[in-house]
Amino acid sequence: MTYQNILVETRGEGAHRTGLVTLNRPKALNALNDALMDELGAALLAFDADDAIGCIVVAGSERAFAAGADISAMARLEYREVVLSGFITRNWETMLRVRKPVIAAVAGFALGGGCELAMMCDFIIAADSAKFGQPEIKIGIIPGAGGTQRLPRAVGKSKAMDMVLTGRMMDAAEAERAGLVSRIVPADRLLEEVLAVAEGICQLGLPSILTAKECVNRAFEGPLTEGMVYEREAFHRLFATEDQKEGMDAFLAKRKPDFRHR
Ligand code: HXC
Repeated sequence: MTYQNILVETRGEGAHRTGLVTLNRPKALNALNDALMDELGAALLAFDADDAIGCIVVAGSERAFAAGADISAMARLEYREVVLSGFITRNWETMLRVRKPVIAAVAGFALGGGCELAMMCDFIIAADSAKFGQPEIKIGIIPGAGGTQRLPRAVGKSKAMDMVLTGRMMDAAEAERAGLVSRIVPADRLLEEVLAVAEGICQLGLPSILTAKECVNRAFEGPLTEGMVYEREAFHRLFATEDQKEGMDAFLAKRKPDFRHR
């Protein structure tokens, strides 16, 4: 498939490489339109299905991860159209079907749908230039791709209300303090650092990586008691894998593990 709105490449070597998707509508600060979201979904599913890929990175430009859903494409939409076409529902949530880890590399603006897209990723590594916000309220709408749901879970009610009701931005330092981002790195090293993190994940055993992601998502999305049952069963299941034997044997033999992803 050829893409018009994203760049798709692989990085690294060996059995499991990193799939890198770069949002690429620089003139519109990567505003997210239908075509871009269709392409992003297709690229993510293709990487997820590719045995040579162990981890996926979604990045933007230096100036913007994404400045939101494309306002020019939304401005004249009517209620009937958004309902009948399943606006957002039809192509924004493909990311949630991806089983491999997805890391957001955020520099510059991550606003509105851009912030929501970053929050759909498994974790966010931010450049010190990153600015997060849900400014929808300033244009007469509210977040529509999880901003009112994932942001409170990430940063708590008070800060989420502050962001959603005022539309203000938070910088990378505030986002890290609040727990929205996992790490901050200097802007000129963002991609390099995120790819190194992804490369580290690629070295690990895929069965345990997929299981770990699913378990943490249970914590984020469901009640504690059900999450605990799910985690325990998943934990037990990993004792059926060769990677568990290899990982533990390697530790005891003081050597590097050779995970075969089985
Ligand atoms: C369409 C956008 C855009 C957007 C920026 N552009 N954001 N086009 N949709 N969300 C375009 C501008 O129109 C402009 O095009 C070019 O990108 C550069 O932007 P400037 O405004 O000139 O840059 P700057 O002055 O640096 O300001 C940057 C900015 C500002 C603070 C990020 O662009 C801004 O406030 N953008 C809108 C942010 C926003 O409201 N996002 C939420 C959208 S609603 P031209 O052609 O003039 O050069 C949303 C709904 C989500 O996301 C719910 C469902 C998913």
